[in-house]
Amino acid sequence: MIIFSYTIYDVAKRAGVSIATVSRVLNNSSHVSEKTKQKVKKAIEELNYIPNILASALTKKTTFTIGLLIPDISNPFYSELSRGVEDACNDFGFNTVICNTDYSTQKEAAYINLLRQKSVDGFVITTAHYNDKNVIKLIKNKIPVVLLDRNIEKSAEYDIDLVLSDNVGGGYIATNHLIQLGHKKIACFLGPSEIEVNVEREKGYMKAMKEAKLKIFPSLVVYGDFKLEFGYKKTLELLKQQIIPTAFFAANDLIALGIIRALKSVGFSVPSDISVVGYDNTILAEITDPPLTTVNQFIREMGYHATELLIKKLKGECSTSKKIIFDTELVIRKSTSECIVVDLQ
Ligand code: RIB
Repeated sequence: MIIFSYTIYDVAKRAGVSIATVSRVLNNSSHVSEKTKQKVKKAIEELNYIPNILASALTKKTTFTIGLLIPDISNPFYSELSRGVEDACNDFGFNTVICNTDYSTQKEAAYINLLRQKSVDGFVITTAHYNDKNVIKLIKNKIPVVLLDRNIEKSAEYDIDLVLSDNVGGGYIATNHLIQLGHKKIACFLGPSEIEVNVEREKGYMKAMKEAKLKIFPSLVVYGDFKLEFGYKKTLELLKQQIIPTAFFAANDLIALGIIRALKSVGFSVPSDISVVGYDNTILAEITDPPLTTVNQFIREMGYHATELLIKKLKGECSTSKKIIFDTELVIRKSTSECIVVDLQ
């Protein structure tokens, strides 16, 4: 099927003006009379003309478009984060193109190439692994980038803009909450170790455990991925082992939901038998049964801030690099309660 579309020449012909005049109207230039403006707008409407953004980018050197890379579109954390990015784009006259990488650095590289071919002005990246080469390549090519919720090993060396949250603090408040409820054997389920937020959340867990002088059981500290299935399968495996925890700290809400599902499937009650704390405070935390105690991240705000920062950079309104760290807070719901197990160990 051939799709026919009108060009700027057709609009100029129909309106009886020059191409330059049509271009001025499209760019909201003030040097056009109201009468001419209306003639051009009428022609645009009649022809259903859509300007070619890439052609105009050649002269304006901008497409007013940013690329947003996210690792998992099905995790509600990323719907909210994308919402913040899109809101900021909307407020500042930009558009967003979202690409989902499935936690793969190959897919990340492929999408970066694609978006560069489409001439996006810059990137908000939430997919970077700690030793990510794709980000370094972008920086070396002087492409504007803000890392959102992800840090990389060389961020200081390359002066990269970062919008993060306090992951050590988050791991600490979650674990400390369980300790205050009398739990001693606390499992810690984390996502992939290549993603720095997990290492940081583990640091927070360790800090709270050490401060309370609690024994850390290596078999209870497990790295995996950020999916519900991981929480589910790993919990069932753990329950067959010798050391059974009385509480779990999960590095995101999806893992926590998997843990709860596994516990219920073998007859445990949450929280009467075993407590569970999640991380993110996504919509899932409110609607699950029992409602999930979790660490709140200011997700939308982080997305908004990162995008605003990128756009300021693109407009030349900000030249120095920034590192913004958002606080975290604990939201106590119904998946945690006092430990009733008397532990003699
Ligand atoms: O990518 C998965 C996780 O990383 C999210 O659930 C959120 O915790 C983020 O930091």
